[in-house]
Amino acid sequence: MGSRIVATGRAVPLTALTNKDLERYMDTSDQWIRSRTGIGSRYAMRQGESLADIATDAGRTALERAGVKPGDLDAIIVGTVSSEYAFPSLACQIQSGLSISSIPAFDVAAACSGFVYALQIADAQMRAGDFKRVLVVGADALSTMVDWTDRRTAVLFGDGAGACVMVTEPGNRGVLSSLLRSGGEYWNLLSVRSTGTRSTIDSEVRRCADDAIQMKGPELFKIAVRSMEEISRLVAERAGVKLEEIDLFVPHQANMRIISAVAERLGLPPEKVFTNIERYGNTSAASVPIALDEALEQGRIHDGDIVMLNACGGGLTWGANLIRW
Ligand SMILES: CC(C)(COP(=O)(O)OP(=O)(O)OC[C@H]1O[C@@H](n2cnc3c(N)ncnc32)[C@H](O)[C@@H]1OP(=O)(O)O)[C@@H](O)C(=O)NCCC(=O)NCCS
Repeated sequence: MGSRIVATGRAVPLTALTNKDLERYMDTSDQWIRSRTGIGSRYAMRQGESLADIATDAGRTALERAGVKPGDLDAIIVGTVSSEYAFPSLACQIQSGLSISSIPAFDVAAACSGFVYALQIADAQMRAGDFKRVLVVGADALSTMVDWTDRRTAVLFGDGAGACVMVTEPGNRGVLSSLLRSGGEYWNLLSVRSTGTRSTIDSEVRRCADDAIQMKGPELFKIAVRSMEEISRLVAERAGVKLEEIDLFVPHQANMRIISAVAERLGLPPEKVFTNIERYGNTSAASVPIALDEALEQGRIHDGDIVMLNACGGGLTWGANLIRW
């Protein structure tokens, strides 16, 4: 018995900030941001908005499309590093938003790899017979964690949530294989040293530089390319799938240049690679499920297609899921 994604959903904050908008906050330009990252705009939470509400919306959409009632879920697993509080978890807040109780709901903290990690955990627990229907969410609000005077990081990140409903199913469709990796020795390439999402772009009190995202971008860039390539090869090999059999590659949307470099190394042509970084920026754990939801909406995925999800993020963490749709 395997597990299959039967529906997806996504939700974002109300406000989109273009690169031009950011020129008001720091010494940057639309031209620099587009050429170095591929990003044109991103969504950012404002005061009064809640990531728990946004993530609940994404989850509700996925449940409605799947025809699964919230009360029929066996678990909620959320990839996030943006719970509003140290605890409760974002998963418990989503559970409350969906008005359900008595099922396990928990967060997985793997930064930008959070959704890929959560999907692997859901698949493993479903194969073990623990759960039949699981809501898997990736949600983050890193715009609340940047130093808005630091142009090296502030332009990269955006907020949002993506979700999928997974059900157990016999047959050869669904998750074929997943692989997760971490490299704790690289922890200080990307870190945020205080929790919470209260410090939005329009709040009066902002994070000080020490509490904001700290990143060694160029070093991270090289490791991201290397690890995303390597994990793709390993997960495909484990599933007995050739790289040329992949119909759609859905990578974490951190930087267009990272995505292009990974795709080139894997021999994947641009038409087999899904990107939406131009409109979202790097939404951390939300990036893969938002991309997956848009790929489905755009008719880029058909029954029987081989789809690879792939991410790398703070931790460092990286991982991939190979799926027959
Ligand atoms: C962050 C990143 C886009 C920077 O691109 P880069 O080509 O490596 O650029 P550098 O950091 O070397 O900076 C080059 C110059 O651009 C400047 N610069 C950086 N950000 C800028 C911005 N937003 N606007 C204008 N100039 C900027 C720098 O100050 C530097 O100028 P200097 O040489 O005068 O000091 C790139 O390293 C990257 O994407 N790394 C991976 C980040 C990532 O994926 N993080 C999340 C992982 S999940």
